[in-house]
Amino acid sequence: MTRSVNLAELTDLETFKVIAVPLVTREGTLAFADGVPATIAGVTLPTALTAEWCESQGLKTKVGSTAVLRNFSDTTLVLMVTNGNETTLEQWRQLGAAVAKVQPKTPAALLVSLTPNATLAQSSQAITEGLILASYDYKKPESAATASLVLVGEGAADAQADVARGVQIGSLVADGANWAKRLVDMPAQDLSPKAFATFAKERLEGLPHVDVEIWKDTKIAEERLGGLIGVNLGSAQPARLVIATYTPPSTANQPHIILVGKGVTFDSGGLSLKTGEGMMTMKTDMTGAAVVTAVLAAAAELGLPIRVTAIAPLTENMTGPAALRPGDVLKIRNGMTVEVLNTDAEGRLILADALSLAAEQNPDAIIDVATLTGAQAVALGDEIGAVFASRDDLAAQLLAASERSGETMWRMPLHPSYESHIDSDVADIKNIGKAGRAGSISAALFLQRFVNGLPWAHLDIAGPSRMDATRGYYQRGGSAYGARTLVEYLIERSRQA
Ligand code: BES
Ligand code: MN
Ligand code: ZN
Repeated sequence: MTRSVNLAELTDLETFKVIAVPLVTREGTLAFADGVPATIAGVTLPTALTAEWCESQGLKTKVGSTAVLRNFSDTTLVLMVTNGNETTLEQWRQLGAAVAKVQPKTPAALLVSLTPNATLAQSSQAITEGLILASYDYKKPESAATASLVLVGEGAADAQADVARGVQIGSLVADGANWAKRLVDMPAQDLSPKAFATFAKERLEGLPHVDVEIWKDTKIAEERLGGLIGVNLGSAQPARLVIATYTPPSTANQPHIILVGKGVTFDSGGLSLKTGEGMMTMKTDMTGAAVVTAVLAAAAELGLPIRVTAIAPLTENMTGPAALRPGDVLKIRNGMTVEVLNTDAEGRLILADALSLAAEQNPDAIIDVATLTGAQAVALGDEIGAVFASRDDLAAQLLAASERSGETMWRMPLHPSYESHIDSDVADIKNIGKAGRAGSISAALFLQRFVNGLPWAHLDIAGPSRMDATRGYYQRGGSAYGARTLVEYLIERSRQA
């Protein structure tokens, strides 16, 4: 399933068959990054990377271009172009991915040097993420290889401890995302709500200071989760709710963040049935639940000084004889009534209960993650997630985290005037907005009704939750979009506290 990443010394290099050397572009031409030694594993590198030589190697100056050079003895050198002035963490991630793909089973060494805008620890974290994310293969869960980072140049001697932490963070983040991707890629016949809850419990149980509860039918009824019960009516599989908390031991004024993830293990649309084509990928509709579970696990493994709760309501959305009908009215946990005019807008119904539960705990912030609307994918495509936030500071923190993680996100407006789109004749609100108009906004405004005015953000990741082609460190299939951003957010949030 993955690579494991460690640190090695320059003197170990000759034992590797795959060695990656970073390049930079300076004034349009290529050069080795600062600190790359003239001789690597007994092989002298060319001193000038002339345009002709680069061309002969298939190496382009375009940012992110990679090439495998095989003309130095037996050693394989993988090189990547980065931009000398604007090197981003994402480029280090892509370098890791490129190396992971060259010879997936061969231990690789990667040189890491100081570039502008990042510390060696940050670059090492990013390269680790690229290596591990790109090594994910649903069909080969067992295969594993190692990769070794070798620090070179300025600051290398003093950075070892920070870099070790960077590698640890990168490993936990990427292993977490890969764990979530595996659940997303699993067929819905194997990943019922019950099975999901078991996987989540297995993942979380035994982690330090983590407590996991699984709510079953009786408890869900007792707790009046009317949205979850309503959506579950058409399914032969019982609903579940996973609620897990990580409470680090140190006590003083730790912030409490509650993460809520949509866990629809299969979305047929219910009686407002989707088309055959439309439901082909709907096993993906539990991405949010997998993401929040993975993020809570990572927070615990990193020992972050911040309290985190993850809540995942789990159900299928099916068409069985008892299924919810368009026109039915549900009573949500917080007492509000919802007219269900389209059973395919089910995500907001189960999230309404989960957000109500979250708000009762009066946390410092609530963040939900959901494959909520096709409209999000129409607006932003499959490479950008939507961020909605009730407060500017929370939006800014999430966008900054997304910049570090490389999971691109864009803020969308909670435009108050569109509240009228969800007015209902017979209940407090209805579960659909105005046909063909701002569907991801009316969905977000719906969710906002359940957070009781607390700081809240909503990540609608319908588009990027699944990739239709393998690209960089993503594979065709589940992406666990949002997982890496949320870990980055929690790391930074716990630093501020
Ligand atoms: N799970 C879907 C949203 C979705 C669509 C995710 C495509 C990924 C790809 C959600 O439950 C849904 O069906 N939403 C409806 C809402 C509508 C009926 C108001 C949609 O977007 O069409
Ligand atoms: Mn739906
Ligand atoms: Zn759905």
